Amino acid sequence: MTDARSTLIDYDRIAREYALHRKIHPEVLKDLLAESGIHGGSSVLEVGCGTGNYIAAVESAIGCSCWGTDPSSEMLAEASERPGSVTFQAGRAARLEFSAGVFDLVFSVDVIHHLENITAYFSEVRRVLNPGGRVCTVTDSEWIIRHRTPLAAYFPETVEVDLERYPRSDELYQAMQAAGLDDLAEHRVEFPYQLRDAQAYRDKAFSSLHLIQEEAWRRGLERMEEDLRSGPIPCISRYVLIWGAKQAASRSG
Ligand SMILES: C[S@@+](CC[C@H](N)C(=O)[O-])C[C@H]1O[C@@H](n2cnc3c(N)ncnc32)[C@H](O)[C@@H]1O
Repeated sequence: MTDARSTLIDYDRIAREYALHRKIHPEVLKDLLAESGIHGGSSVLEVGCGTGNYIAAVESAIGCSCWGTDPSSEMLAEASERPGSVTFQAGRAARLEFSAGVFDLVFSVDVIHHLENITAYFSEVRRVLNPGGRVCTVTDSEWIIRHRTPLAAYFPETVEVDLERYPRSDELYQAMQAAGLDDLAEHRVEFPYQLRDAQAYRDKAFSSLHLIQEEAWRRGLERMEEDLRSGPIPCISRYVLIWGAKQAASRSG
């Protein structure tokens, strides 16, 4: 499977907006910590860490050794401003600049749809994992993309754009199995919240808003601002977490 999903998004240009608006999803963090079984002596890598909010939260919760890698120098500059001792370094998913067998958990959040070759990524993940180590891909299913509130409701043009970009769960399973990862599982989480202001949508802090027509973005924003004048908009943030593992007894390399 050699998909061409290369991103048209210039994350260097939108790093400030990401740092301002992206918050961790508390249920994602909870599942990452509970399911991975990591502890103070563990080593964890976040691939496509962006401004570092998830890996910083993992470090703060567990006190383990944490690394974040991302190709965008501006995203990493924002990440480096965070308190804590996460090590941030430039790098891409298809070629992780780490030695073999060093991590107990490798995870990514909202990154897999940017990768050109997901099998190459999972092969790299398997290489850098310790035997028994876990991998988690936090992403959106087709159902989630179609039912995103508020994104699909106010910017329906994002649905087709994202159905094109995001790999389906079965593609992820196939790529993980092709890379020699197993113990596959899928968890779904959701977090209801009240949207009180449209600034993140005005700032286009969601990559699909950069991929729809300017006119469609403006129309959705006006509708959202109009609805917000009558009070907060009830929303639900949903994710799937696709888990896999490198078997403790599997062949090395
Ligand atoms: C939607 S942002 C998510 C950032 C962060 N994980 C978060 O949840 O806030 C996607 C990130 O993927 C990174 N990215 C894009 N292509 C990548 C690649 N080939 N390898 C690793 N990261 C990549 C971008 O630079 C960006 O920081």
